[in-house]
Amino acid sequence: MKAVATRVMPASPEAIETAVRCLSDGGLVAFPTETVYGLGADATNGGAIARLYAAKERPAFNPLIAHVADPPAAHVLGRFDAAADRLAAEFWPGPLTLVVPQGKGCPVAALATAGLDTIALRAPEHPVAHALLAAFGRPVVAPSANRSGHVSATTAAHVLADLGDRIDLIIDGGPAPVGIESAIVACLGGAPQLLRPGGVAREAIEHALGQPLASPPSVMDSATAEGAPLAPGMLKSHYAPRAALRLGAETVSPGEALLAFGPAAAERASCAVAARNLSACGDLNEAAANLFAHLRALDASGASVIAVMPIPDIGLGAAINDRLIRAAAPRS
Ligand code: TXA
Ligand code: MG
Repeated sequence: MKAVATRVMPASPEAIETAVRCLSDGGLVAFPTETVYGLGADATNGGAIARLYAAKERPAFNPLIAHVADPPAAHVLGRFDAAADRLAAEFWPGPLTLVVPQGKGCPVAALATAGLDTIALRAPEHPVAHALLAAFGRPVVAPSANRSGHVSATTAAHVLADLGDRIDLIIDGGPAPVGIESAIVACLGGAPQLLRPGGVAREAIEHALGQPLASPPSVMDSATAEGAPLAPGMLKSHYAPRAALRLGAETVSPGEALLAFGPAAAERASCAVAARNLSACGDLNEAAANLFAHLRALDASGASVIAVMPIPDIGLGAAINDRLIRAAAPRS
């Protein structure tokens, strides 16, 4: 891979203009969304998408989400059934991705969808993401702006640390407010299925649908013996810091760092090499927003093990636990 000079620009109309030019030229632009930073490329440009996979070191069987400014732009790319329409009306713009059948003549490059006949679509709410998509006027594929398998990036500094010298531009719009990736729901006829818990809680999605979501493939058995994922991208080991993770920790052992949650953490923190609290008041939304930055910070402490206190498995806690289980999974 040829090293490029990565330019970092604070969010501004000038940055949006530069980003649009860069995307049009087949470049790679990282930009903030409300969930995490995305690494954007023109979804209709196969060459740009090939560069994107290379920059992330992402396996090409793992398809990308096409980001659009609004529902009408999504309807050009995919076919929406009643459930998809309802979810888009309720949660877009926002941290929800819908997997739907591809529309006839969908202009998104086959490389981005890994040759599937479905497509993942999202209309983000973040003003910088929205301004970029509206100004570009074409779909933008954007995986999380981290190297494949690493902890996702929630700040421009995280993006630079992972992808500096590999991408053209980073728009710095401050920390991503939700902090955890979008929830992914497949609407392919039949009951909608939750493929990835994320920034919209399962409970809220089910409430909007008026019916339960079909269960996601379990984190623990979503990769087959051959290592080919059943749902693409649902790899067991992911979001992995360098340190090992010990989940459900009630105590801290000597030499461990602590990822705490809730008010009871102070005492435990005093024995840890380094400690961060996801939310001292036990707020799961605050915890999601802090998750990836705290994991990166504890990893930087040099501890070989990060002890993680239990997180309630409700609301955004389900998405947090999903990411932690993957981060703790054996590395290949
Ligand atoms: O919040 C987010 O969704 C962020 C921001 C940047 O929008 N993006 C993100 O992208 O998390 P990525 O590439 O890290 O994760 C996308 C997931 C992958 O697990 C991929 O396998 C899945 O979406 N996916 C994409 N297209 C799919 C499809 N047609 N069917 C099933 N899963 C799909
Ligand atoms: Mg990712």
